[in-house]
Amino acid sequence: MLVRNATTFDSEAMRNVYRSAFDASESDITAELAISLLSESADEEIISLLAQRDDQVLGHVCFSPVHALEHSNWLGYLLAPLAVMATAQHAGIGSQLVRAGLAKLAEREVNMVLVYGDPDYYARFGFTALDAANCLPPYLLQYPMAWQAIVLREHSAHSAGLQIRCVPALMEPELW
Ligand SMILES: CC(C)(COP(=O)(O)OP(=O)(O)OC[C@H]1O[C@@H](n2cnc3c(N)ncnc32)[C@H](O)[C@@H]1OP(=O)(O)O)[C@@H](O)C(=O)NCCC(=O)NCCS
Repeated sequence: MLVRNATTFDSEAMRNVYRSAFDASESDITAELAISLLSESADEEIISLLAQRDDQVLGHVCFSPVHALEHSNWLGYLLAPLAVMATAQHAGIGSQLVRAGLAKLAEREVNMVLVYGDPDYYARFGFTALDAANCLPPYLLQYPMAWQAIVLREHSAHSAGLQIRCVPALMEPELW
């Protein structure tokens, strides 16, 4: 399995992955999010990774930077979205993509990686709701226990509390 950076040339292949992984009510909005994150400004340092076997794209994950309003020297990343083609699930591809992204972030000056997703899935990577407890998302969440984090580098803001702001593509209320 090859894991590589996604480019705008991969948009259609990514759309296929999201259409296959999500049901119709969610697939378009999630695919559009993944594609618009590809075109967010380069200096945002977005990590967009594809899993590919032979010529077929089987999975995608994105990690985009989040900033804290009152702590300019704090840097977080949000994992979203993530999908693996339905026919390729349960083969470790999702885990490989998440771990590849976390490894890249561990090399940067990143304090925290956040995710809003099923704890039964994300706990295996070390995400916990406890680590995200002092980090306020941009909108009120329907499932607060799904808001989880991994602390990569301690920061005094983690105990003080943080109000975070995402890149523009993720500031849409319907995504939360
Ligand atoms: C979640 C997803 C990316 C996992 O991809 P994957 O390649 O199948 O993941 P892995 O093979 O690394 O891990 C699979 C394990 O995760 C578990 N898993 C998958 N989705 C899960 C979920 N929502 N909650 C809990 N466990 C989940 C499976 O039970 C599986 O365990 P098993 O192989 O022992 O049966 C994939 O199922 C998917 O695309 N789902 C639809 C889109 C989605 O929900 N994206 C995440 C949004 S937060």
